Amino acid sequence: MAGAKRGILLVLCLAVVLVALGSGGVEARKRGKQSLGFYELRRGEFSMVVTNWGATILSVRLPDKNGHIDDVVLGYKNIGSYVNDTTYFGALVGRVANRIAGGRFTIRDHAYHTYRNDGNNTLHGGHRGFNQVFWSVRERVTGEFPHITFAYRSYDGEQGFPGNLDVLVTYKIDGDCSYSVTMYARPLDKPTPVNLAQHTYWNLRGHGNGTVLRHAVQIFASAVTPVGRGLIPTGAVTPVAGTPFDFRAPAAPGAHIAEVEGGYDINYVLDGETDGQGVRKVAVVSEADSGRVMELWADQPGLQFYTGNMLKGDEGKGGAVYPKYAGMCLETQDYPDAVHEPAFPAEVYRPGQLYKHYMLYKFSISK
Ligand SMILES: *[C@@H]1O[C@H](CO)[C@@H](O)[C@H](O)[C@H]1NC(C)=O
Ligand SMILES: *[C@@H]1O[C@H](CO)[C@@H](O)[C@H](O)[C@H]1NC(C)=O
Ligand SMILES: *[C@@H]1O[C@H](CO)[C@@H](O)[C@H](O)[C@H]1NC(C)=O
Repeated sequence: MAGAKRGILLVLCLAVVLVALGSGGVEARKRGKQSLGFYELRRGEFSMVVTNWGATILSVRLPDKNGHIDDVVLGYKNIGSYVNDTTYFGALVGRVANRIAGGRFTIRDHAYHTYRNDGNNTLHGGHRGFNQVFWSVRERVTGEFPHITFAYRSYDGEQGFPGNLDVLVTYKIDGDCSYSVTMYARPLDKPTPVNLAQHTYWNLRGHGNGTVLRHAVQIFASAVTPVGRGLIPTGAVTPVAGTPFDFRAPAAPGAHIAEVEGGYDINYVLDGETDGQGVRKVAVVSEADSGRVMELWADQPGLQFYTGNMLKGDEGKGGAVYPKYAGMCLETQDYPDAVHEPAFPAEVYRPGQLYKHYMLYKFSISK
């Protein structure tokens, strides 16, 4: 009964969201002959809502230590606000997440120029990256372990990138309080850089409930790739020991954030043993008042840690207001600007070659 009521409520909310759909979205909808959908994945008290607009995560709900359910990810009050968005709330970003210096690169003597949407650089796939397109629903499975797979065919020259590229992302609840994100991409005809990332902003107190400065964050990484002008890596890999970037033991981001220009926005070089599938524990975030704990496992070489430095009172879901540091992003990925750094793990894939990126989030309560 409660479930049915929740279902009806959700449908009502979605109807409101649909009415609120901005004109840009409607245009895109006509262009792509696609329709906008919202999909709830639920197992017990754990649930999430995703949409095929940008393969975006709109909400993740789970109980705190007192059984109170909160939505722990930041997002906008209606889908229209996701169109033209530059905060990347909940978005699946690509074709190349993070920055490409100068918006250009060369593959086999071909020079490519990508859309420069971040000063002189390309950020998160350009002006209309994968977070700004309609994806189609490839598969939807309900039941004990609900999941949904979105598909997108990126075309040759999209935002300047070479070749057609098929992309799939699956969101799956695969445990009592856990979900995975599995991303695949396959170039069809030209070699191309690929680096996908999931850009959800977390606040384990609940979105809109203050900042994340007092969360406890542990990142299993002994080094970072420091950046210079325009947040482009210098190519160096430097140890975190004795710096404000050291999260090898749990620490509050607020403790040393004043020593980090602009707040945390840096790529960690992940340590540690991987299992046979290349998966390792990447980070653990906990919040004492709510008791919520989030573990992140993934198979990527890097983690971009970002503390929502650019937020400035953005208006969010349900009238929430997001000040600076209201959420943190833990974006597993290849290192930024890898296309220009031969010493970084390669990110160029040949036609037919498969790009894979797996992430697993496990939530628990510490009392
Ligand atoms: C997005 O930006 C375009 C171009 O500036 C504009 O025409 C459109 O109305 C905007 N859409 C929304 C929903 O704000
Ligand atoms: C922009 O990037 C290009 C290529 O890296 C570089 O040659 C140029 O000097 C840069 N311009 C500015 C204003 O930074
Ligand atoms: C904010 O989080 C704290 C800790 O979990 C909780 O006690 C409080 O009720 C929350 N406030 C709101 C408005 O949700």
